[in-house]
Amino acid sequence: MPIRIAIFASGSGSNAENIIKYFSQSDTLFFPLIISNKPDAYVHRRAENLKIPSLTFTREEFSEGSQVIQSLKLYKIDCIVLAGFLLKIPACVVKAFPDKIINIHPALLPKYGGKGMYGDKVHQAVVDAHDKETGITIHYVNENYDEGNIIFQAKCSVLPTDTPEMVALKVHALEYEYYPKIIEKIWG
Ligand code: GAR
Repeated sequence: MPIRIAIFASGSGSNAENIIKYFSQSDTLFFPLIISNKPDAYVHRRAENLKIPSLTFTREEFSEGSQVIQSLKLYKIDCIVLAGFLLKIPACVVKAFPDKIINIHPALLPKYGGKGMYGDKVHQAVVDAHDKETGITIHYVNENYDEGNIIFQAKCSVLPTDTPEMVALKVHALEYEYYPKIIEKIWG
């Protein structure tokens, strides 16, 4: 029986699509559901094209948790992959999926983590600090933002002339290369 993984995404969903395509022929990992907190997020379009159901829950429904858990049970979900998901995962969901939820963060945690640190804000902070390197962190999810155990990190250089957009491109390239491979390594 393949392991059934739900992807949570709030925005574009390019990582979600990359992961789903990577495993499209897999016998071991199956991605039957995408969940978002934004009804107009581009990830829903990608889901439609990939022929995968996508659901939306409001911020309130997310923080309460029971409807989310109900849907995850309905789709017989074993594990959850966060890919650009911007809300906190409530304690009841973390409890229902112990060590079964992972996240990708577009920086080298513990740097540039925590509430409000997502996407381009992270890359802007890296450029503002004149850091010489940044990267990605894949980690388990607990009740606090960006604090679960780290599974994997990869680095890229930041040049003095790099804009946040250029940093984002480098970081996305690392995400596309490594997120599917790490998912395969831990659950495949
Ligand atoms: C990714 O870079 C991901 O690391 C980041 O959001 C982006 C989503 O891109 N996640 C966070 O910042 C979480 N704190 P995508 O929607 O194109 O996959």
